[in-house]
Amino acid sequence: MMHSVKKDNLEFNKGDTIIGRWQQTRYTVMRQLGKGMIGTVYLCRAKGRLVALKISEQQMQMTTEVNVMKELNEVQDSRLGPFLHEVDDWISLSGQVYSFYAMEYIAGEAIHSYVRDKGEEWLVVLLIQLLDELDKVHQAGYVFGDLKKEHIIIEKHPVTVRCIDVGGMTKRGRSVKEYSEFYDRAYWQLGTRKAEPSYDLFALVMIVLSIYYPNPFKRRSLPLPFLSQKVTNIKRLHLIHPILLNALSGKYDTAQAMKDALIKTVVKKRTKRSQPQKSATSYLIQSVFVASVASLYYILSLFL
Ligand SMILES: Nc1ncnc2c1ncn2[C@@H]1O[C@H](COP(=O)(O)OP(=O)(O)O)[C@@H](O)[C@H]1O
Ligand SMILES: [Mg+2]
Repeated sequence: MMHSVKKDNLEFNKGDTIIGRWQQTRYTVMRQLGKGMIGTVYLCRAKGRLVALKISEQQMQMTTEVNVMKELNEVQDSRLGPFLHEVDDWISLSGQVYSFYAMEYIAGEAIHSYVRDKGEEWLVVLLIQLLDELDKVHQAGYVFGDLKKEHIIIEKHPVTVRCIDVGGMTKRGRSVKEYSEFYDRAYWQLGTRKAEPSYDLFALVMIVLSIYYPNPFKRRSLPLPFLSQKVTNIKRLHLIHPILLNALSGKYDTAQAMKDALIKTVVKKRTKRSQPQKSATSYLIQSVFVASVASLYYILSLFL
């Protein structure tokens, strides 16, 4: 086996190969994509295609992630999480066994840089799309759990929001075990870690805050007024302030409810702005209501 692993630190370099113990697939490392609490993810080439390979010492957690990803891949019409390709073990020079899995490589841009470039209208479109996907996950009986800006990738052509790291996905009613403080409503004393849709909706608001406040902030003695102030200070989002505030305080029971509220706001704004071409506009607005989210952002893009 050709690799340059020094004492099993699971660091691989460009050109190293990882060969699966059972499937014997040869993965050639191109570069590291990222590293988290659980494992390290590499962009690899295998069987002529690019994949993302996650390798870790934490076998139990990896098994959980694989199972969750299989479930997520089953959710009808959902493209939220990466597609799972192959699961295997890798044996290091010292004879240690590590779990890895190969999944779809999701290429794209981070949500904060995307919104900074494209503006607030696109943030709303991305939120609507994300809510649509989350709703499917919730209806399938899960909560995403560890939603944060590092776990969102914006694919181009067509613009699609994707989530990575399914490690936090939790069956509804259970307790979310993998979360990140800043995005966790229990940390902010604004609810429990019980896996219910409103848990994800809170994290979604925190994602919005993380875009506009690059330096994360800590809890204060009065968390709700503190976070509400952070929201309302983002003047460019004034149209959706009420919706973000509702989600902060757990007022939406479903992702669908929050999505509907956003769509209504967008449509209202359009109506006000385009009085002269009323008929064309109202036609488009009507289509917004019946359109899938995919066509929704297309329709919106006509106005931008
Ligand atoms: N399928 C993927 N496609 C592209 N990048 C990925 C993919 N999976 C993970 N990454 C990158 O690797 C980082 C770490 O992966 P993640 O699954 O979050 O690890 P951990 O569970 O240890 O937090 C991510 O933040 C992301 O930048
Ligand atoms: Mg992660």
